[in-house]
Amino acid sequence: MLKTKTRFSLAQTAVFSAIAVVLLCSPVYPQDSSTDAAAHRLEAHPWMNSKLSPEERADMVLKEMTLDEKIELTHGNGMQGWGRPMPNLGSSNGGAGFVFGIPRLGIPMIQMSDAAYGVRASAQNGRYSTALPANIALAASWDVGTACEYGALIGRELRAQGYNMSLGGGVNLAREPRNGRTFEYQGEDPILAGTMVGNRIKCEQAQHVIGDIKHFALNDQESGRAEVNVIIGKRAMQESDLLAFQVAIEIGKPVAVMCAYNAVNGDFACENKYLLTDVLKKDWNFKGFVVSDWGGTHSTAKASAAGLDHEEPLDDFYGDKLKKMVWSGVIPMSELDEHVRRILRSEFASGIVDFPTQKSVVDVEGGLETSRAIAEKSIVLLKNDGVLPLDPASVRSIAIIGAHADTGMISGAGSAQVDAPGKPAAEWQAQVWFPTSPLKTVKERSLGVDVRFDSGENREAAAALARISDVAIVFAYQWMSEDMDLPNLSLPDGQDALIEQVAGANPHTIVLLETGSAVTMPWINKVKGVMEAWYAGSKGADAVARVLFGDVNPSAKLPLTFPRGETDLPHAKLTTPPPGAQPPDVADPEAKPAFSVGYDEGFKVGYKWYDAENKTVLFPFGYGLSYTNYSYSDLRVHSTSEGVSVAFSVKNTGRRAGSEIAEVYVSLPQQAGEPPKRLVGWAKVPLNAGESKETTIAIDGKYLSIYDESIQGWKLAPGTYTFLVGGSSQDLPLAAKTTLQ
Ligand code: BGC
Repeated sequence: MLKTKTRFSLAQTAVFSAIAVVLLCSPVYPQDSSTDAAAHRLEAHPWMNSKLSPEERADMVLKEMTLDEKIELTHGNGMQGWGRPMPNLGSSNGGAGFVFGIPRLGIPMIQMSDAAYGVRASAQNGRYSTALPANIALAASWDVGTACEYGALIGRELRAQGYNMSLGGGVNLAREPRNGRTFEYQGEDPILAGTMVGNRIKCEQAQHVIGDIKHFALNDQESGRAEVNVIIGKRAMQESDLLAFQVAIEIGKPVAVMCAYNAVNGDFACENKYLLTDVLKKDWNFKGFVVSDWGGTHSTAKASAAGLDHEEPLDDFYGDKLKKMVWSGVIPMSELDEHVRRILRSEFASGIVDFPTQKSVVDVEGGLETSRAIAEKSIVLLKNDGVLPLDPASVRSIAIIGAHADTGMISGAGSAQVDAPGKPAAEWQAQVWFPTSPLKTVKERSLGVDVRFDSGENREAAAALARISDVAIVFAYQWMSEDMDLPNLSLPDGQDALIEQVAGANPHTIVLLETGSAVTMPWINKVKGVMEAWYAGSKGADAVARVLFGDVNPSAKLPLTFPRGETDLPHAKLTTPPPGAQPPDVADPEAKPAFSVGYDEGFKVGYKWYDAENKTVLFPFGYGLSYTNYSYSDLRVHSTSEGVSVAFSVKNTGRRAGSEIAEVYVSLPQQAGEPPKRLVGWAKVPLNAGESKETTIAIDGKYLSIYDESIQGWKLAPGTYTFLVGGSSQDLPLAAKTTLQ
């Protein structure tokens, strides 16, 4: 893909921003409280009546629009550093895309910014953004309230920077854990991923920004993403990747969906009628608009008929070409109207018309607090042979080892990248480390303890420091980015060897992982503790110290399986483009994908694969330890005509307060032909030491169903269902059977 996103200078950017401020303010109505002015406004523009439905308002505007105005809404006007320069780029707010408004009708510009785990490119635009923990970390919290806070913060910071559309909400499944964007997604389970993204978008859109979920669909690897054709059956995709989108859309009601670069069963996702029209718009009743991934549009007539509403970031297919085709009758006006109606409806439904953005200063301290709190809820304790939490009263010396442990915590790259405060704008695919360093926060938390640092560059020196310390903590990282996949799941840069050597020198070695996906751990039996902090965001180092020292009791659980090695994955080797394969020429409407990947594991994604294949894993989906223990008892399944619910008790049997994520799985009747079990619900249960709570979880009927291609819909497979409850996908002490018809 065209991914060398060169940058404009700061001076140029400042000019663009200044122009953008003027233009952003011009098309929208001033907030005038006077009754006369309001009445006048309504008389001229009756669709400004916010009591009308978004549909009614959109229809009213549409009737007033000229063909040129309609076309204007269906395409972008360029992105800095992307493709050919567009004449009006100066009106951009500095984000990934923008759409002109229609000032005479009071329709504002749409200013879009990438916002996966925070607002992108803020340094370049002279602004500041909070980096939240990566999306995969959010998924590890399994906490819908946390997802809501995540979305609300991003929504607020977008608006403060003058954006009214977010390009976040990645919900592709971790079907291929080497996918370089795994950190931007929400793990391997469609119901967990969809629920987390849905709640994030719901709260993000409540801030009056257009929320977008992406990349629809099956963009599950970055290798050859623009030229790969994914081959997969309908039932398999419906019960896996599509289900994640469906759940997210039902919960979050995003008003935009971004179609993906790849093709699915022969048609590029952005001109795939099955995906965009049959499934998204008809079956799921999605009312928003479909925006292409950047450069993911390949045609005009085919894409338009298939359901693509808006091209970004240029107008190669939806500018003059679309206008000519509508003018000449090749594309019916009604089809164009449908695209425009959807865009207008989204603008009204999200509130960007009624609540114009106004640039302001973000709440920096508040953002940092939120980021820290989310990180604390997302750090997964994977192994603890009695070494954690650290007690400064008994530990006299700590060795902090790792290449950047004296600098900061790593972040995920690509269009998700958030700039670190006080640092220049991040280059494309640069490694960005967020201050403060864990060395500093561990020192602060353990006053009186001798805390020393070694970068690990020289393994001997690191081991020597570990040998004379009570405890050694190795900070190990795996950096990932959009537009590349990981070659394997090993820690890079010789970090496995470093850990081995340190563990050989100190029996109390802890490994603190900063990764965006699963990693292998050849040294697992030689270390005493392992903690997964993911890409922990602006306050990651503080959160890590607080969990290490037990100020916070870890509660997070893995949203994806950590396999023993690549040979246990459905595809031991990634399918990469054949030599010489090129991304399709965007100017060629006949372009075809250059190679195929068969996702023949189908809906057996993640734990469903390992379960079905009887493969032992390193750490299972849903797994995570705590500094206390929990026990489960008394499972009851209630099945009525209203639906199914399960009730059980969870008890904190240890001596610390904590929160247990209690998980509910179900095994379907054998004739359903499903993997051994699937997640169908969960609850985060806060418990004081010794406390026990009765927990009831209602199970969505669809989560018990299977997709039947012959009826193109979901149905229950009648028979015996076994409900399983416990603290991880492989620790399910409770089971109860029930018959469902
Ligand atoms: C990415 C999208 C992103 C867009 C704009 C594309 O390359 O795939 O996720 O929103 O660029 O930066």
